[in-house]
Amino acid sequence: MTKIGIFYGSTAGVTEEIATKLHEYFGEESCDLYSMEEDFDGFEDMLQYDYLLLGSSTWGAGEVQNDWRDPLLDMEEEKPDFSGKTIALFGAGDCKDHGEQFVSALGILYDHFIEAGATIVGEMPTEDYTFEYSFAVRDDKFVGLPIDEVNESEKTDDRIAAWLQTICLHLPQKENAVVGVA
Ligand SMILES: Cc1cc2nc3c(=O)[nH]c(=O)nc-3n(C[C@H](O)[C@H](O)[C@H](O)COP(=O)(O)O)c2cc1C
Repeated sequence: MTKIGIFYGSTAGVTEEIATKLHEYFGEESCDLYSMEEDFDGFEDMLQYDYLLLGSSTWGAGEVQNDWRDPLLDMEEEKPDFSGKTIALFGAGDCKDHGEQFVSALGILYDHFIEAGATIVGEMPTEDYTFEYSFAVRDDKFVGLPIDEVNESEKTDDRIAAWLQTICLHLPQKENAVVGVA
């Protein structure tokens, strides 16, 4: 079976927790989990997968999480070819204290991986979220899954389940799939 690669950058552990839930959902036999800080050695790590879930929280004023910074700079130089790859994006943010750049890191990842030829799936409607601006909104939708554990942790599991429903249409089939996370 075709494996999925999950790569995440997380400073305080929130995006890491989502990545871990996704890893548990798909199962070790179907997917591999990489921390951008500890496990990522270069884009060849990602290019061995046809299906990728990429996670970054947003820091600074709408910036990617720290462990994504150098890889994205390298990406601009090395120009790895992601054509034929299917990618879905997820990440944590804070819609109240940082609602002027809510989960904007997802928009930065989106631009880099679209430029590299990937197909991005798993857009999410904005209606369920209250925020001022997000670089991750394109054509009135988020380009991936925003999670806000600071203000709306009670919505997290439902949001992940809704997103999984969308992306599972584009990913290798999980047998006996029941969409949801514990
Ligand atoms: C200094 C600082 C800057 C932040 N900037 C943003 C931001 O621009 N946009 C946003 O949505 N969240 C922002 N946040 C909120 C974090 O993304 C949020 O706490 C998230 O849960 C952290 O996820 P992580 O543990 O995976 O890194 C910021 C938080 C801090 C402390």
